[in-house]
Amino acid sequence: MRTQVAIIGSGPSGLLLGQLLTEAGIDNVILDRVGKDYILGRVRAGVLEEGTVSLMDKAKSSARLHAEGLPHDGFSLAFDGRDHRIDLHGLTGGKRVVIYGQTEMTRDLMAHREQSGALTIYDAANVQPHDFDGAAPYLIYEKDGISHRIDCDFIAGCDGFHGVSRKSVPEKSIRSFEKVYPFGWLGVLAEVAPVNHELVYANHPRGFALCSMRSMTRSRYYIQCPLDEKVEDWSDDRFWDELRLRLPAHHAEALVMAPSFEKSIAPLRSFVAEPMRFGRLFLVGDAAHIVPPTGAKGLNLAASDVHYLFSGLGEHYQNHSSAGLEAYSSRALARVWKAVRFSWWMTTMMHRFPDTSDFDQKIQEAELDYLTHSHAASTALAENYVGLPF
Ligand code: APR
Ligand code: PHB
Repeated sequence: MRTQVAIIGSGPSGLLLGQLLTEAGIDNVILDRVGKDYILGRVRAGVLEEGTVSLMDKAKSSARLHAEGLPHDGFSLAFDGRDHRIDLHGLTGGKRVVIYGQTEMTRDLMAHREQSGALTIYDAANVQPHDFDGAAPYLIYEKDGISHRIDCDFIAGCDGFHGVSRKSVPEKSIRSFEKVYPFGWLGVLAEVAPVNHELVYANHPRGFALCSMRSMTRSRYYIQCPLDEKVEDWSDDRFWDELRLRLPAHHAEALVMAPSFEKSIAPLRSFVAEPMRFGRLFLVGDAAHIVPPTGAKGLNLAASDVHYLFSGLGEHYQNHSSAGLEAYSSRALARVWKAVRFSWWMTTMMHRFPDTSDFDQKIQEAELDYLTHSHAASTALAENYVGLPF
């Protein structure tokens, strides 16, 4: 088989790139090692920047997102028993974010891809990129025990943190940067109205908590927990009790509890691989970088990578210029590092670290006080939260 762009990974990065290419008349094939149901079973964050929404528009996959997504003009930082609203809309000259689950965005992109007739190969085993440092790259994969080959012009490695793309690059050609945080997030999904109409990020002596949502009838809540915690040790009652303890009293009293239907613990990590291009192989999204979830930048960063790669591929096929593809890594990384910095900063400011000294604690309190009383500092937070331009 031959295609123009072979895409490894059918997560949001691969699907968004695939749909943009298909709309632009550029042939592409997506391969994933797992099936559709498995991909749609993953629970991920749900805050979309306007730039991500625009890309969904461009991919002609945004009808449901506009109908069901919840535009949010602000969020709260809770500490010291009080809420401090960050007026995203006012501070950024009219920008906002949209609450829409990543799983739903993935579902919409998959449905549109099926309608457009573009090929996705699920359950593709042992996918392996080859010869991407030359002019004629190809992929090998196995399906139902039979080996197949796809020849292509370019390979997009959209296969997440544990994928094969980054691992296929010779060690001497790639450099990685990593920070692992000494705690995780225990998250639950429950069919109840959210405690507040906007998100609440809470810094509390017992640890961080986040009140988020998927809709006005479905809540997503998180609490910071030690890394060695087991999800089986967290009954729903224990979770709700702990969440309530970490929220200001007016939220704790308003919290509606219900049985959870998803509960999991995720570790927190910052990771960046440089560069993001190796000849004709491009790393996109989680394959190249991971951010801790504080600030919900993971999916939005994947979207900005897709934007830079799509524009480079468009220039290549339409204008016969390689300038955009050559600039891909440096353009993407410039934005990636700013979001990595922002997510690290917000994580550091909102969590309790096991080894915090009294001095560190005082600095964290001063930071929150400054942030919520300085227009300049609140503006910097808002500007990053709604997403830097790309
Ligand atoms: N071969 C084929 N497919 C693979 C392989 C492989 N060796 N390894 C992984 N994959 C597939 C996974 O099954 C998954 O469906 O690649 C896909 C990667 O998807 P994600 O992990 O969702 O990564 P990405 O599309 O970059 O999504 C960006 O935003 O909110 C964040 O981390 C969150 O996933 C999210 C990310
Ligand atoms: C979520 O809704 O899952 C979510 C929202 C905001 C974050 C992280 C996760 O910062």
